[in-house]
Amino acid sequence: MTYPVWVNGVEGGSLLPSDRGLAYGDGLFETLRVENRRAVFAEAHFSRLAASAAALGIPLRQAELLAGFSRFLLSCPASCVAKIVLTRGSSGRGYLPNEEAPSTVIFSAHPLPAYPESFQSDGVVADISGLRLGLQPMLAGHKHLNRLEQVMLRREQAMLSADEMLVCDLDGHVVEGVSSNIFLVRDGELGTPLLDRAGVHGVMRGQIMAQAARLGINVTESRYAADAFLSADEVFFCNSVNGIWPVRRLPGRQWQPGPVTRQLQSFWQDALGL
Ligand SMILES: Cc1ncc(COP(=O)(O)O)c(C=O)c1O
Repeated sequence: MTYPVWVNGVEGGSLLPSDRGLAYGDGLFETLRVENRRAVFAEAHFSRLAASAAALGIPLRQAELLAGFSRFLLSCPASCVAKIVLTRGSSGRGYLPNEEAPSTVIFSAHPLPAYPESFQSDGVVADISGLRLGLQPMLAGHKHLNRLEQVMLRREQAMLSADEMLVCDLDGHVVEGVSSNIFLVRDGELGTPLLDRAGVHGVMRGQIMAQAARLGINVTESRYAADAFLSADEVFFCNSVNGIWPVRRLPGRQWQPGPVTRQLQSFWQDALGL
């Protein structure tokens, strides 16, 4: 099985060392689940990318990107993870962008992650990270390429042998997981952290909120301390590659996957179309 990489539409193409994605993390990315050669929630991924590119002033030719990605998918394994990286292109040394420079677009395909099926069916064992996310309203919500915080978190997660971790900001408010968003369920209603100062506005998070609205389940976005999750009826992590992982253990608390989590997992299964 081959997993292609295209740079600016060229298979196996190369990247300049002066690319601002490499030099400054000056760019954005999307990670999409592909099943039967169809990218799940593709529209939501492309609209997030376009909205973030507009907010950060990164040129993006949407129609060209969509057409290129459709062609790219034809060369991918039917089931895989597809990644799109958009950078502000190349410039000279220094932070000032060259506003004339064309942006860089990288498409790459990757094997589906080999997590145990029990992560979906029984849930994950999560820890609470000792690290803190910085507060940066200017970048909050965007899936930008500056992911050093997540790299440090992922190393901590590996050291703790946790399946995921609950991650707080400098003020002690829960933001998300290491590579996922997080929800709690209390009295049949959903709650999820506000992402106005840190965190990524996950596509899966948005889809869950839309599905909850269709099901008549109330969703509150708020600032939560870790205790709110420890005392919740259900807790789950979500992202667009793995769907929904119920939490079966956090330090001092255990759960069985609950009915709201199960209901939303069936929405994810339907979206996969398997
Ligand atoms: C830090 C972080 N937050 C949230 C998410 C979830 O985003 P999405 O649902 O778009 O996959 C991810 C996904 O990789 C992530 O890395």
